[in-house]
Amino acid sequence: MDNLMQALKGEANLAVKPRPYFNHSVSFKGVHDRKARTEMMEKVGLNVFFFPADMITGCDFLSDSGTTTMTDEQWAALHMGDESYGSNKGYFMLRDAVNDTFGQGFWNEPTANRPNAFLFHQGRAAEDALFSVLGALGEGQIIPSNGHFDTTEANIEANKIEAVNLFSSELKDPNSTSKFKGNIDTNRLKTLLAESADKIPVVYITITNNTGGGQPVSMANIKEASEIANAAGKPLFLDSCRFAENAWFIQKNEEGYAQKSIKEIVREMFSYADGFTISFKKDGLSNMGGGLFLRDGGKFMQSYPQIPDMLTNLQILQEGHPTYGGMSGRDIMTLVVGLKTITRQEYLDARVQQVIDFGQAMVDAGIPVLTPFGGHAVYLDVNRFFEGTNMQPGDFGGISFTAILLAAYGHRACELGYFAFGSYNGETNEEKFPEVNFVRFAVPRLRYEKTDLDSVVEAVKEIYENRDKIPPTDVIYGKELPLRHFKARFEFKN
Ligand code: F0G
Repeated sequence: MDNLMQALKGEANLAVKPRPYFNHSVSFKGVHDRKARTEMMEKVGLNVFFFPADMITGCDFLSDSGTTTMTDEQWAALHMGDESYGSNKGYFMLRDAVNDTFGQGFWNEPTANRPNAFLFHQGRAAEDALFSVLGALGEGQIIPSNGHFDTTEANIEANKIEAVNLFSSELKDPNSTSKFKGNIDTNRLKTLLAESADKIPVVYITITNNTGGGQPVSMANIKEASEIANAAGKPLFLDSCRFAENAWFIQKNEEGYAQKSIKEIVREMFSYADGFTISFKKDGLSNMGGGLFLRDGGKFMQSYPQIPDMLTNLQILQEGHPTYGGMSGRDIMTLVVGLKTITRQEYLDARVQQVIDFGQAMVDAGIPVLTPFGGHAVYLDVNRFFEGTNMQPGDFGGISFTAILLAAYGHRACELGYFAFGSYNGETNEEKFPEVNFVRFAVPRLRYEKTDLDSVVEAVKEIYENRDKIPPTDVIYGKELPLRHFKARFEFKN
């Protein structure tokens, strides 16, 4: 036995490792063929948001938001949900879980008369609350970020605040070997603060940078941004939907963090922040939930002592009593357990490695995707995909691609590029294209297996090999609308 054990390398050295979990229950998909999917695709005007999920016979990569497969512990906790109208049991458990995960200071005793933790039904409601109270305090404000998410940017602008994206130069440089392309450009941040500090209520960093290719942000960058902001008297906030995945990248790729636990890294990240907004539908592992948290006694609370009360009023008017926000007791319970699972090393190793392996398989198949890979999604580089074909920017090739992938193969991906982030000026008849042009494959947590993802790579490869035959699209409805990708309809041009 001893000899044998020495000869065998053991599971740590296997090229293919077993998952650290097994399926607890399964859900069968609908059975639909290509003809039915194609007819449906035409009916929904090539807008994959409107495509019935039951007809998705492949993988659904529309979003990693709220699409988590919950664990058996979460399902058990759900049954323990307390639906009391005020101060339900889960509220106190969530408070402990938030303090434990992000560090002390973001959730005062409910009776302390200094409310600083605000629950909402999802992330964008928390963002809207923050930006609407800020917007009410004056015009001409600017909120810079390493990359605002689409709804975040829309919420900022809906409140007459200017959203500025300071993507790092590495993000746009195909030759860059940076492991942290999600960083904020600190030089541009310094310049902006020097010119306009009086207009900037808060500096934002999104971890990981979803709009910027899902790329992580380094601890050094978070720290430097907070120092730059603080030197100008400004607080730093984190849009922290994927905080645990970001911490994993710091642990793996930033010097000095290899021996630290995910929890230690998370707490250090948040120690530089004066507040954060979060959608718990991502790294909360829950299907619903969001929050806004302000550091007690921090720069933001000091600068805006009136804001906690304004937020509480808004919460009561729009969401519910502050002790449940917009969340049901059962969702709160799944979140309490989700926050414990999300920082488990073996969970994150499996989760992020799956995304990385998926991306690497795309690269090995010759498909142009953004590298290195982020923690939640693989991003197809649409401009490189259509290089050498007749596809023009205004033809929205990313939209054509997502429609064909879904109709022909049953996999749903999401255009996050020239159409989603672009805009159309009806007076000048001009399209304004954003800096990045991606189709995103957002991988739901704990949902798919390697065979599912391998099948997607094969499908994308086949489309890539036939890219010169992909027709351009015409926008037949909604070109000029805000948030147009959620609402528009298209037609193939030929
Ligand atoms: N911030 C970021 C970085 C996000 O990715 C999202 C949502 C939100 C805020 C808003 O949170 O959905 O709970 O209201 N992102 C999803 C996505 C929708 O598909 O990336 P929410």
